[in-house]
Amino acid sequence: MSIENMDELINHLKSQGFVFQGSEIYGGLANSWDYGPLGVEIKSKLKSLWWKYFVKKNEFNVGLDSSIILNDNVWKSSGHIGNFNDPLIDCKNCKARYRADKLIEENLPNIVISGCTLEQLKAIILENKINCPKCGKLDYTDIRKFELMFKTYQGVIADDSSVVHLRPETAQGIFINFKNVQRTTRKKIPFGIGQMGKSFRNEITPGNFIFRTREFEQMELEFFFNPNDSKDWFEYWLNKVIIFLNEEINLDSKKYHIRHHEREELSHYSKKTVDIEFDFPFGRGELWGISHRGDFDLKAHQNGSKQNLMYLDTDTNEKYLPNVIEPSVGVERLLLAIFSQSYVEELLDDGTKRIVFKLPKKLAPYQIAIIPLQKQQNDKAYELFNELLTDFDAVYDITGNIGKRYRRQDAIGTLYCITIDFDSEADKKVTVRERDTMQQERILISELKNYLEQKLK
Ligand code: GAP
Repeated sequence: MSIENMDELINHLKSQGFVFQGSEIYGGLANSWDYGPLGVEIKSKLKSLWWKYFVKKNEFNVGLDSSIILNDNVWKSSGHIGNFNDPLIDCKNCKARYRADKLIEENLPNIVISGCTLEQLKAIILENKINCPKCGKLDYTDIRKFELMFKTYQGVIADDSSVVHLRPETAQGIFINFKNVQRTTRKKIPFGIGQMGKSFRNEITPGNFIFRTREFEQMELEFFFNPNDSKDWFEYWLNKVIIFLNEEINLDSKKYHIRHHEREELSHYSKKTVDIEFDFPFGRGELWGISHRGDFDLKAHQNGSKQNLMYLDTDTNEKYLPNVIEPSVGVERLLLAIFSQSYVEELLDDGTKRIVFKLPKKLAPYQIAIIPLQKQQNDKAYELFNELLTDFDAVYDITGNIGKRYRRQDAIGTLYCITIDFDSEADKKVTVRERDTMQQERILISELKNYLEQKLK
């Protein structure tokens, strides 16, 4: 999909009720998006697939739902207060604002800037004549650090003692509960804790639709293991993520790429990181990060809280701080990858165009649409719709001619349209039309449930 089609995709998602502009009737709030009736369905299916695969049906893992607002000491220990900031630079001429590191990366893709001071970053911009992308001038402010965490106050008095922050990642809620979870579940190392939920970052340059926003959802797993374990748990979880992408959500394997971080590029907590990047319509971007965090976080919280977070192996009497592998992904980023690979415009034999949203089977908001051909079949169709609603995600569609209804269902990704017509009364059959091939079959109503179950497996 090209960048031009990105606008079409966004219009499509808005017009069909997947994603709306946030606060739209008040003129909107920049880079905020609301998920409509179809968006919320696909989002919740995606989250439940992740939960099932990484938590519920995984032999090692359990789940957690920690708070968004944590004791501020959590962020002091984790290094977020003080370290979680981006280098901000403004164009003095047109006032456009950029992340200095991104400005350099976009213009000089081969340069390594990790570890550079703010002054060095500015020097790179000036020496390489990276002009302002908006006005073309080379007249920038100095670079300053911009704190990414959203600050607020807890309680009635808004002063320094009541400052709290919204979490910028779900991971820290897991680390501070490591002991609680281990004690109550009596889990032995290795085991993991999965969590999904909202995170907030006051991004300097949000954009590219839902790719980078200030409020987003993460799905993170922190997997704890003995540092002396000979098994390569990093490879194990990387492989698991790839199986999830291929088999659970059918992401096109030609569109994603595995990129190992260079040493200089690693975050302060990471021993090893791999990004799975996706070819989005606007270019290649990070989709899913897998990091080896060592014992950085547990050690930081053990020091900060003065609590003993060591794990005692009761079989060997070995006492240690576990190491951690973290696969971390944003729900909306994964959705954008799925949306952009699924949006297809087809030219049909009769010269007309159809938009078909080829959403993966497990994620389509509706599996089936029940369509009465004419008014006379409404009652029968509605009865069938109610019967099938128990077992399938179904919608009842009675407005417009049959062609329009097929197009409408194609556009929202409905997998099968089931039409009741004049003959249904006599032959006790319905027509089942498949979304991608548009092929139709007559199926006995008594066989329908079985037929659909097979198809939707
Ligand atoms: N706990 C590690 C962590 O948070 P990260 O690379 O900063 O690492 C992990 O974020 C994932 O969260 C990213 O790969 C991306 O999918 C998603 N993500 C991060 N910032 C985001 C933003 N501003 N908007 C949407 N998704 C974001």
